[in-house]
Amino acid sequence: MLDRIVQGTVPRKHHIAFRDAEGRLLYEEAFTRAGFDGPYTLVYHRHRPHATHAAAVRHGWTLPQAAPPRALLKRHYRTQDLRTPAGPSASARVPLLFNADVTIGLATPTVEDPVYLSNGDGDDLFFVFEGGGLLRSPLGDLRFAQDDYVYVPKGLLHRFVPDPGPQRWLSLELSGGVHLPTQWRNEAGQLRMDAPYSHRDFRRVEWKGPVDEGIRELLVKRAGAFHAFRFDASPLDVVGWDGAVYPFAFPILNFQPRAGLVHLPPTWHGTFAARGALVCSFVPRVVDFHPEAIPCPYPHASVDVDEILFYARGEFTSRRGVGPGSISHHPAGVMHGPHPGAYEGSIGTRATNELAVMLDCYLPLAATPAALAVEDPGYQESFVG
Ligand SMILES: [Fe+2]
Repeated sequence: MLDRIVQGTVPRKHHIAFRDAEGRLLYEEAFTRAGFDGPYTLVYHRHRPHATHAAAVRHGWTLPQAAPPRALLKRHYRTQDLRTPAGPSASARVPLLFNADVTIGLATPTVEDPVYLSNGDGDDLFFVFEGGGLLRSPLGDLRFAQDDYVYVPKGLLHRFVPDPGPQRWLSLELSGGVHLPTQWRNEAGQLRMDAPYSHRDFRRVEWKGPVDEGIRELLVKRAGAFHAFRFDASPLDVVGWDGAVYPFAFPILNFQPRAGLVHLPPTWHGTFAARGALVCSFVPRVVDFHPEAIPCPYPHASVDVDEILFYARGEFTSRRGVGPGSISHHPAGVMHGPHPGAYEGSIGTRATNELAVMLDCYLPLAATPAALAVEDPGYQESFVG
C-alpha cells in the first residue's frame, strides 16, 4: 500500500446514505485487510456487490506441488526453456518454487482474461520482464509495460488484457501481503526523502467511470483451490472509491540504487517487503568507489534465508551460465558467491548494467516438477573452477 487516495464520487462521510443523481441508493463495500484493523478501501457500487451465484469452475492454473526431496545444492532454473501454457492469465501461470509465504512462478498470458479473477490466497506481485498490457478492476485501469512491477491486492476482482506479443512475467504470490519496507517511511507515512523511491515513482490505478464489459464470471483462488461465482450485473459498477488498497505499478528503473565506499548488502536494494520475504531490485548503477573495493559480493551462506535471483537483463558479472530468464536458488546455509575469476576480476570496475530481482525467503523453498524440467544440472559444479 502506498498512500490513501480518492477517485470518482464519494459521500462526504463514510457509512452514510449515498445516492446517485436519480436518487437511487448506492452500496458501500468495505475492502479491508487484517479483519477491519488494516489498510482498507471503501468502494461505492450501483449494485449489491455480494449478490453472486455459485458457478462452475472453468479456469485456473496448475497449483504448486513439491517434487520429491533432493540434495541440498545450489540450483539454477532456466525459465527461458519452460514450456509455457497458452491462454489467459487465469490459467497461464506455472509455479516453480514455493513455501507457505511465497509462490514464485512464471505467468505467460497469450490472450485477455474472459473472466474476472480474485486471488484470495495472497497479494500478487508481477515483474513484467517481457510484454505489457492493461489491468482492469472495479477501482479502474492500470497500464503497465516491460520492466514494471505490477501489484494486485489480495481479493481484488480484476482481469488482464495483455498487449499483442510475447508476455513473460515473473509472478510472486505473497500470502502475508506486500508493503513497502517500513524503514523507507517517516512518521507521517510518507516515503522518506532518502528512500530509494518517492510517491511520484509509482503509477496508480485510474478510475474513469462504471464499466460493463458483459463479463459476469468470477474465478476465485482460495485455500489452494479454484472456485467460481456469477454476477447478474457488471461488478465494475463503481462510481467512486476512497482508500489505501489498490493496484499500482512501479517501474524497476525508478528504483534509486545506492553505492558505497565498499560493497553494500542487498537490504539496501529492498523494494517490497512481505511476510517471510523481501524483494530487492538490482538495477544498473555505479559500484563501490574505494580504490581497492571488491564490487562482487563476498561469499556467504545466508543461514536464515533461501535466496532467489531472477536475471532480467544485462551482464551478470558474478555469475556465468545464467541469462535473461534464469532463476538461481541458493538455499539457506549453502555457501555461494562469485563464479571462478569474477571476484578478482571485479576489482577496479566502476559500474554494472545488471537488471535483476532478488528474493530473500525465510522459509525453505520447494521446487515443483515444472522447475526440475528446466534445471541446469551443472550449476553446483560451475562454482568449483
Ligand atoms: Fe547470496
